[in-house]
Amino acid sequence: MSIRNIIKIGNATLRKKSKPVTSFDEDLSTLLDDMKKTMIEKKGVGIAAVQVGVLRRAIIIEVDENEYLELINPEILKTKGSVKDSEGCLSIPDFYCDVKRPKYVQVKAFDRKGRAFTFDAKDYLARCVCHEIDHLDGILFVDYTDEGKKYRSKFEHEEG
Ligand code: NI
Repeated sequence: MSIRNIIKIGNATLRKKSKPVTSFDEDLSTLLDDMKKTMIEKKGVGIAAVQVGVLRRAIIIEVDENEYLELINPEILKTKGSVKDSEGCLSIPDFYCDVKRPKYVQVKAFDRKGRAFTFDAKDYLARCVCHEIDHLDGILFVDYTDEGKKYRSKFEHEEG
């Protein structure tokens, strides 16, 4: 396992849409192991493959101490409610702001062996899942609020 470099806001790769994982092979396992190690090293609670520069739909979330959830090709099936709470991101160091997210989500995903599963997440975990899935579509939490957009403008310039 190795620690990979985390790309930061301003890097155009963060805005690209990740492609579905199609081979559940050794390379995927290595990627996931490296993502996990990198996330722990950088003290994050979630990481998407794009953050280490790999445009594949894979994310890892810390659900408890030493307990991690790996979601490959995740898809939100259902959401309920809405809660505002503070968010941060390994790719946007030292900035936090409140973001509105669903209180509950139901997600379908695959594990590293290609087995499909569904699970329910609420509150903080639901927030993490939404934040990480957003990464796969090139969306960052700073996109949701005026405060975030103001911060974003220091690194990214509006197109057109
Ligand atoms: Ni993030």
